[in-house]
Amino acid sequence: MAERTAKLSVDGNEIDLPVLSPSEGYDAIDIGVLIKEGYVTYDPGFMSTASCESTITYIDGDEGILLHRGYPIEQLAEQSNYLELTYLLLYGKLPDQTEFEEYKSRIRQETFVDERLVALCSSLPRDAHPMGVVCSLVGAMSAIYHNEVDITDAVCRDQVSIRLIAQIPICAAIAYRHSIGKPMLPANPDLDYAEHFLHLMFSEAEDSPVNPVLAKAMDRIFLLHADHEQNASTSTVRLAGSTDANPYASIAAGIAALWGPSHGGANEAVLAMLNDIGSLDKIGGYVAKAKNPDDPFRIMGFGHRVYKNYDPRATVMQQTCDEVLNELGIESDPILQMARALEKIALEDEYFVERRLYPNVDFYSGIILKAMGIPVELFTVIFVTGRTSGWIAQWCELVSEAYKIGRPRQMYTGSCNRDYVPIEAR
Ligand code: ACO
Repeated sequence: MAERTAKLSVDGNEIDLPVLSPSEGYDAIDIGVLIKEGYVTYDPGFMSTASCESTITYIDGDEGILLHRGYPIEQLAEQSNYLELTYLLLYGKLPDQTEFEEYKSRIRQETFVDERLVALCSSLPRDAHPMGVVCSLVGAMSAIYHNEVDITDAVCRDQVSIRLIAQIPICAAIAYRHSIGKPMLPANPDLDYAEHFLHLMFSEAEDSPVNPVLAKAMDRIFLLHADHEQNASTSTVRLAGSTDANPYASIAAGIAALWGPSHGGANEAVLAMLNDIGSLDKIGGYVAKAKNPDDPFRIMGFGHRVYKNYDPRATVMQQTCDEVLNELGIESDPILQMARALEKIALEDEYFVERRLYPNVDFYSGIILKAMGIPVELFTVIFVTGRTSGWIAQWCELVSEAYKIGRPRQMYTGSCNRDYVPIEAR
């Protein structure tokens, strides 16, 4: 019996519910016994529901705090790098020098262009959305590697994790180069992770150099997107994983969930919105539209389900944004000027202030990626590249402990039992 209990009283029936204390965050009321008493809980959108125990990431949305394995995101962004963070997410600790070198060498060994994925991609339309293509390529990895996957084996789970982290930038590059009709460059595992990604995507030739400021910005974008506890795509990966599904297929499910504009697709939607607004004098009209309760339009890149204070990733991203715009000397770009003006107006507007709607990480990542000259339809693919490490760490955490298949209940409001009427009698 838990030390503390909550009492639920329904029609005179008192039910004791254990109260669980996490290391950080809200106490959790364990409602698992309710079904035996003939009740379910109703929580559309999982506003108050914890679906699992996890030791990977903690967010305090009111205070604007994000910790990975206890380390604040600001410190990681300042002092660490994306690959070291992937190690931390997977193994729960920061690596020492030897461990990190060994880890990077294992990633390098899995960094190759798989011609089977290139061939598959060539059968897809050139104008296909790259998110659909990357989802297909990772789905195809489930077919390619299925026979060697044993999710009960920790060594095999580790191998899957390393391979996914190594291969996801390559899937992104295969998708992009196919869309512009250019052949893949050979992999060059000697480059840093983010540098290699930019090289595979955008270099004209094998020996073309990559701008170090842009490589640093890309590394930071990956780092800031690496994990974000039980968001929609991560929950999708866990739900698929809970059926003992193939891990590559579970990650492909996460990619599908991330694509939507309410989630990872927001960075692309930010740019589409800015293009739609078109000029500085129209911003006021769009803000008024967003405030109109009868209009479904929302300012893309504003608001967050969990952060009801500033998104700490957005603060770091804003700094990176300044660095990149400085380096490229393009602060006068009209789209970027509009983004700045929109940010200012919305931050001062009572509607946004009252609802605690701040720019989220995707508002700034959209602007940086646009400034770096990255095609808009690749924005969410870049999010996928960073988030794959978080998804696979969460999947490993799920399957390495006892777990149940994820199976929510529902509150049925349809017709009650009725008799079938033959068609001629209706
Ligand atoms: N523009 C205008 N109004 C907004 C916005 C917005 N971007 N976001 C929320 N609101 C308003 C809502 O209309 C609602 O107003 P009301 O109280 O008068 O009804 C209030 O703020 C609360 O909004 P909810 O929908 O309850 O907030 P929820 O937590 O469910 O949604 C979400 C969060 C989906 C992110 C929402 O803010 C949104 O759609 N933002 C734009 C899309 C976006 O940027 N998504 C990226 C999220 S970050 C990520 O996935 C990495």
